[in-house]
Amino acid sequence: MPRISTALDLPPTEIEQIIRHASFAPSLHNTQPWRFRLLPQVIELHYDPARLLPAADPAGRELRLACGAALFNLRLALENAGTRPNVTLLPHFAGPTVLAEIRSGGRTDPRPEARRLHAAIPRRHSHRAPFRDVPVPTAERSHMLHAAQSEQCRLHIVTPGELGTLEGLVHRAHRIQEADPRFRTELAAWTGRPADTSEGVPTSAAGPRPGPQDQWVHRDFSAGVSPRPEGVEYESYPLLAVLCTPQETRYAELQAGQAVQNVWLTATARGLAASMISEVIEVPDTRDELRDLLGGTLHPQALLRIGYGGPTVPAPRRAVDDLILDDGTTT
Ligand SMILES: Cc1cc2nc3c(=O)[nH]c(=O)nc-3n(C[C@H](O)[C@H](O)[C@H](O)COP(=O)(O)O)c2cc1C
Repeated sequence: MPRISTALDLPPTEIEQIIRHASFAPSLHNTQPWRFRLLPQVIELHYDPARLLPAADPAGRELRLACGAALFNLRLALENAGTRPNVTLLPHFAGPTVLAEIRSGGRTDPRPEARRLHAAIPRRHSHRAPFRDVPVPTAERSHMLHAAQSEQCRLHIVTPGELGTLEGLVHRAHRIQEADPRFRTELAAWTGRPADTSEGVPTSAAGPRPGPQDQWVHRDFSAGVSPRPEGVEYESYPLLAVLCTPQETRYAELQAGQAVQNVWLTATARGLAASMISEVIEVPDTRDELRDLLGGTLHPQALLRIGYGGPTVPAPRRAVDDLILDDGTTT
């Protein structure tokens, strides 16, 4: 079994904590598709091809989004440990599965904002249950817009005039996926898991079973097992925000993942909760229509539902040892 070594002049115990924090990132169906190689002067972030979900994510776009989110956590964890992260995305000549190289840019005092976001990493969970019917104030929205901008992305807050069309697109995308037996089989394989699982979504973290009357949350992570509790009623107006990139490249997808995580941690640190609604972006036709709805120039990468929520149950994570590539492995 690989052992945690030193890297970037940090001792194994700190490296283990840093990788653990990286692994708290969100991923589609909690596949956790990231791996890390530890070398004295560099940490490499790899994706794991075995964790691609071919029905929901045939091109690996969401896999790269998840790895980008893990990279954002890794950056924060390094800064919090006093090391300025120096990141190269998609480095040349680094092997087919490398998505990023992280080197030390010297010692640093963590910025107060980096400390706040780092503290929010273990508190960020997908919140699929209803939010309280309390609007998200403009000041909070500005913080999230800024978080996306600082990762070279754009967060579009869905306007009241766009809500109806977006709701129709989300419903249509959900119906298209539900009619696809490959999608249903894949979702069933990763959800409704027992409590002692280390990957996928256990029933305890699934949120309430969606009902036909629900406007936004349709994907059933309970595998149809848990009954819908009495009185579950969703908020009338969640804040919906589309994370967009100016381009549609693998590089932009890694930036989008970092931006999603920056926005989500900013929200968490400020007492907000969020969940993702991805069907509308996974289905090519509805993704194109969403792009048109937003003006046709930006590429939608993630739809977030944001609000004030209650307690959530964390989804499990794999052991750090299982995420480490042996030195000399290239894939
Ligand atoms: C690219 C991507 C797409 C996702 N899509 C959805 C989604 O459509 N619905 C949902 O409830 N969660 C979605 N999630 C959240 C994951 O299910 C979640 O991150 C994972 O189960 C781990 O749980 P956690 O976020 O509580 O840590 C998505 C996450 C990522 C990174």
